[in-house]
Amino acid sequence: MAERKTWRRLFPASKYGPLTIEFGDEPLDYRVGPGKGKWVPPPGFTFVPHDTKAKIITIGTGCRIRPGATVFYGVKIGDRTKTGHNVFIREACVIGTDCLIGTGSIIENDVRIGNGTRIQSAVYLPTGTRIGNGVFIGPMTVFTNDRYMDYGKRDLKAPVVEDDVRIGANCTILPGVRLRKGCWIGAGSVVTKDTEPSWIYAGNPAVKLRKTSEVAL
Ligand SMILES: CC(C)(COP(=O)(O)OP(=O)(O)OC[C@H]1O[C@@H](n2cnc3c(N)ncnc32)[C@H](O)[C@@H]1OP(=O)(O)O)[C@@H](O)C(=O)NCCC(=O)NCCS
Repeated sequence: MAERKTWRRLFPASKYGPLTIEFGDEPLDYRVGPGKGKWVPPPGFTFVPHDTKAKIITIGTGCRIRPGATVFYGVKIGDRTKTGHNVFIREACVIGTDCLIGTGSIIENDVRIGNGTRIQSAVYLPTGTRIGNGVFIGPMTVFTNDRYMDYGKRDLKAPVVEDDVRIGANCTILPGVRLRKGCWIGAGSVVTKDTEPSWIYAGNPAVKLRKTSEVAL
């Protein structure tokens, strides 16, 4: 395997110490400004120092991080992943390769997203959410992790989304729900229970409609 070339930029010491940003070896939008090796963040791009041990942000080769992004310490973004504008990605999130993170999406801390997953605009992923590979999440969809809404008093249970799941626009996924491999969720659904693999669900509460194999694509 070819040796991966990266370069680093050390930002000046902040309250929490210095921050290193590590990039892949291909141009990133707005990455290279006038003067060799000089990195110019896109307009409105903010790195948030947080009191975490990981004082590094890793952005892969061929990524495109559009203006207005806010990225916290400890975030890892895989090769060729692209974001829309004004995305917000909190500390310790790991996002795979070839993903899209839509404009205005909010990804809270410790979220994991696999490879080739497409997240449309204004999606909310709370702390601890797990998303697999090849998943589609429609715009304005909200995941939740706090069943009784008593902030800070109970264990949070984030949803888990297995590979190849498709979620329509404007859905709500309740805490701890597991969307099993290849299921589809209709637009506007409220998913209150785990799903079976390769079935279509829709409604509030979401119920089984038919198998995905019955839909000719
Ligand atoms: C769920 C979905 C895939 C089902 O498609 P389908 O298999 O062709 O389903 P049909 O249109 O034949 O509908 C079957 C039944 O389910 C109902 N239904 C379909 N989608 C529904 C939804 N999202 N919520 C509630 N009921 C729904 C239909 O009204 C119909 O009910 P009926 O049998 O009483 O008439 C599709 O309706 C859907 O919601 N797609 C998501 C689109 C989307 O959000 N895309 C995001 C990118 S923009």
